This record gives sequence, C-alpha cells and structure tokens, in this order.
Amino acid sequence: MSLLPFITFEGSEGCGKSTQVRLLTGRLEKAGVRFLITREPGGTAIGESIRELLQFAPQSASMTPETEVLLFEASRAQLVREIIRPALENENCVIADRFFDSTTVYQGVARKLDVKMIRDLNAFAVGDCMPDITFFLDIDLKTARARMKGPRRPDRMEMQPDDFYERVIEGYRELAKNEPKRFVRIEGSQSPDEIEREIWKMLASRFPAVAGNRQSAIGNRQS
Ligand code: TMP
Repeated sequence: MSLLPFITFEGSEGCGKSTQVRLLTGRLEKAGVRFLITREPGGTAIGESIRELLQFAPQSASMTPETEVLLFEASRAQLVREIIRPALENENCVIADRFFDSTTVYQGVARKLDVKMIRDLNAFAVGDCMPDITFFLDIDLKTARARMKGPRRPDRMEMQPDDFYERVIEGYRELAKNEPKRFVRIEGSQSPDEIEREIWKMLASRFPAVAGNRQSAIGNRQS
C-alpha cells in the first residue's frame, strides 16, 4: 500500500474543485512529492472519447439514464486500471477530479436510478481502488448556477433543471454525513485561499507523506 493518499474531489458544477486541484498540486510540487491528476469522465484515450459522447455529441440527446451510467462506469474502469492503480503502486499521490461518488449522486440520487445497483456498478468498476480521503466542496444552488454561466458552451448535464441540481447538492450532503471518515465537507463559499489552507491542513495532518516526510514515513513502514 502506498503511503501517499488517493484523494478525490467532489461537488456540483461550479464548486471550485478544479481550482483546488491546481492549488494542491502547487503544494505537492513544493514538497517534492510525486503526484498524478485525473478527471472523470476521461483521463485515458478511451475515457476522453466517452467524455465527448457523454457531454457534447449530438446523438447523446437521446441517451437513456441506463446507458449514461454504464458509460461513466466504463470510463472509470479504464482509468483505474490504466492510470490510477499503477500510479499508486509507483508511490504517487493521486488526485482525482471526481470519482464514483459522482455516479452515486448524479445517476443514483439526481437521475433516480436504483442507488443499490449504482453501488454495485461502482464496486465493479473500481475493484479495490478506494479513495483514502474525499473533499466535498459544498455550495448552494444559486452559487452553482451563477458559476455555470461561463463563456464556454454548456454541456448536457448543465442543461438540467434546478431540481436536478438540488438533488445533486443534497445527495452529496447525505453521502458526506453517512461516511464521515472518508468525506471532508468544505464550505465552498469561502475564498479559494481559505479553502486551500483548510484542505492542506487536513491532508498534512492525516497523511504526513504529502508534506514531504516520505523518507521517515517509508522508514517507519519497513520497521
Ligand atoms: P466536470 O468535469 O466539469 O466536473 O463535468 C463532469 C460532468 O459529468 C458533471 O456534470 C458531472 C457529470 N458526472 C456524472 O453525472 N456522473 C459521473 O459519474 C461523473 C464522473 C460525472
């Protein structure tokens, strides 16, 4: 098992995950820690084709929820085996911009597919590759909507109505409540710097190896 954690970031669109992933990599670079970033759907050649199909392809307008969930899981199954697992085995810290909690919340809670079935599909896709810690950036619907209105073209998911996004936000809150060991809920209305400091403090205390203390940590593990 790697001493460097597998970290996932979750939350609704506009919650600031991507900014936090970028800020975290700055800290890791300074600490001299090797890391790898992934995004979902995508992150592999197969996954990026699936991403295009899911988000922008004209034919996706008629995609059923069942097809949608299987495509997300297919992208993830490839990412875990091609990228994430080898990186962790090679003593890298892995930072994932979304992982299986997104499927539980978007397809399970928001699309109202059977949540138990989604959990089984998630387990099939990831095997034993479980995140060590998950940061949930919690913002309200109004903030999420305001941040979705950027210059880029909206994807298929962003065209969903408000009640869909209300379920997404509530779904994440519920997951975070039910899994307090893995989830860290962060108040997303704080400034990016405040959030970054909170995340780093938590990571450095729970996983000293991320702060560059790898040598002593590795020494300890072997004793
Ligand atoms: P993002 O890269 O901007 O976060 O966009 C990914 C979109 O895909 C976002 O709308 C959430 C959605 N999504 C799901 O619905 N289910 C999933 O399992 C994943 C990974 C993403």
